[in-house]
Amino acid sequence: MNLNFISSCIISKLPEQPQSAVILGSGLGKFIDSLDKPIVIPYSEIPDYPCSTVSGHKGEWVFGYIYNKPVICASGRFHYYEGFNLDEITLPISVIHSLGCKNVIITNAAGCLKKEWQVGDLMLISGYLDYTFRNGTDTPPIVLLKADQINKKIKSIATELNISLREGIYTWALGPTYETPAEIQEIISLNGNAVGMSTVPEIRKAIELGMNVVGISCLTNYGAGMEGSVLSHEDVLENSNLANKEFSRLLIEIV
Ligand code: HPA
Repeated sequence: MNLNFISSCIISKLPEQPQSAVILGSGLGKFIDSLDKPIVIPYSEIPDYPCSTVSGHKGEWVFGYIYNKPVICASGRFHYYEGFNLDEITLPISVIHSLGCKNVIITNAAGCLKKEWQVGDLMLISGYLDYTFRNGTDTPPIVLLKADQINKKIKSIATELNISLREGIYTWALGPTYETPAEIQEIISLNGNAVGMSTVPEIRKAIELGMNVVGISCLTNYGAGMEGSVLSHEDVLENSNLANKEFSRLLIEIV
């Protein structure tokens, strides 16, 4: 996997450098329909590029314009549970950075851990918990994102659009199975507000590369055991599809 080679392969298909980038989570790919003059680059057309195996993740880059601003979207991401390593999981961020983008919006579908919130709500990520226990800590600390200014702006955009935007702590769990009810209770006791299987490595990488990062979760279900019903990937996809419209409206204005 050669980053320079991959980015020059992508850039050779684009009319200009994108200014912003969006990583689209499970079932949230509809945002690309909002792009003007779209150019699609399937991952399979980029030599040596990994391919995501999860349904709801298309596996393509889509370049286009929003209000004349050049944007590139990664529709389809890579997860730890698919067997990818950290370099592979964060490859889309490395690519975006090497294309010259300074801003990235990272999105995901996540379980909602607050009963007062509704399934279908969107949550701005103000910080994260690493619940993968990969680096030896028993009690993962909350890491807050230093994005007060950007997040303030995004909240005012949401208010203008009349979209109820929650704000909270995203928790990264390894997957591929959903959490147990006991794990969900523990994550709640650690002050996690949403749970999913991605995003944290990408946020870390983007910060390491000095980029401006915004994270948004689409809350597609309550955490396991909170409602009594059994979770399924199909329900998650159905609910993220339902939230797609609001989500796209918000993303368009943020970009
Ligand atoms: N847990 C983990 N990942 C998820 C969930 C969940 O409840 N919903 C969507 N992605």
